[in-house]
Amino acid sequence: MTGLPGSGKSTIALLLKKRLEEGYGRFVEVLDGDEIRKGLSRDLGLSKEDREEHARRVSYLAKVLSRNGVISVVALISPYRASRESARETIGPDRFVEVYVKASLATCEKRDPKGLYAKARKGEINNMTGIQDPYEAPPSPQIVVDTEAGSPERSVEDLLTGLKRLGFL
Ligand SMILES: Nc1ncnc2c1ncn2[C@@H]1O[C@H](COP(=O)(O)OP(=O)(O)O)[C@@H](O)[C@H]1O
Ligand SMILES: [Mg+2]
Repeated sequence: MTGLPGSGKSTIALLLKKRLEEGYGRFVEVLDGDEIRKGLSRDLGLSKEDREEHARRVSYLAKVLSRNGVISVVALISPYRASRESARETIGPDRFVEVYVKASLATCEKRDPKGLYAKARKGEINNMTGIQDPYEAPPSPQIVVDTEAGSPERSVEDLLTGLKRLGFL
């Protein structure tokens, strides 16, 4: 799942994990970018190179889990189109689904669940995606979840519908 900070990736990832486990008996791991930055990627910053390296490591993890029957729900800003295409290649196009968790910058900034947009506007952060750093929205995502259209639960239903349409469920 790719999207701006505050678009709803982490919220939806946890709800999706529960639905896939309880409703479909799947094994699911949530790979959350912020969590992984505390461990596996703790040496990385927010430069373009480091964001790409972060995405590369997470892709590798998803690949290893996937080939052992574990679904990875990846909640990662993943701002660069090229990184997401590399992930598709690494994991395998038949196992990878690009989901665009969509909300306008204005909405994300209003939600500001971590207070990072406010800090960026005050100049306390200078590499915030959407403010100073680019976000390359996916031109043709396989699933779009519009999180401005309703509740997180509703968004997860939309995502499940998309996964069924693509034949993953
Ligand atoms: N439909 C929705 N889906 C997901 N989050 C939503 C939705 N509507 C409102 N929200 C709110 O938006 C915020 C999203 O935060 P978060 O999941 O941490 O975003 P991200 O992980 O993309 O940075 C949460 O406060 C959540 O309650
Ligand atoms: Mg998050």
